[in-house]
Amino acid sequence: KGDHGGKELQGLQSEVAALRKQLDDLAVTVTKNQNAHLFPNGRSVGRKIFKTDGSQGNFEASKATCFQAGGQLASPRNSSENTAIQQIIARHNKAAYLGINDMQSEGTFTYLCGDAIVYMNWANEEPNNAGGKEDCVEMYLDGKWNDRSCTERRLIVCEF
Ligand code: IPD
Ligand code: CA
Repeated sequence: KGDHGGKELQGLQSEVAALRKQLDDLAVTVTKNQNAHLFPNGRSVGRKIFKTDGSQGNFEASKATCFQAGGQLASPRNSSENTAIQQIIARHNKAAYLGINDMQSEGTFTYLCGDAIVYMNWANEEPNNAGGKEDCVEMYLDGKWNDRSCTERRLIVCEF
């Protein structure tokens, strides 16, 4: 009948308006929660979140801690991510292990998934595999990288 379709359209339009309002509210809530949980020990870059719990551990312990939390050891894939991690460790005044190593093949650094690294930020003269036993990678407070023995204690920084 003549008006039937009009009423239905009106109903749908108001439903869409209500959903849009709910989405806006949700966006505000998400942003607020994100700000809260990033303060003060986290940083976000795009969809990636880096965070420390302030504790320390050697490479294997750090890796396990991040995995148990549902993330993995911080693995910067570009300079923005590197800077985010650098800000966290500078705040804690403690270097951190990255999710990068050359355990599999000396001199070929890979992420924990085994892929070759696509970005690097080595300090001068690094990696030098000092003493022939530096298969892990630490980030210094200035954001530069050094290959290092996996058995030191470093700040645990995870990514999610
Ligand atoms: C070493 C130096 C070196 C670096 C090594 C470190 P250490 O420190 O900082 O430049 O390449 O990875 O082990 O062992 O002489 O205190
Ligand atoms: Ca080194």
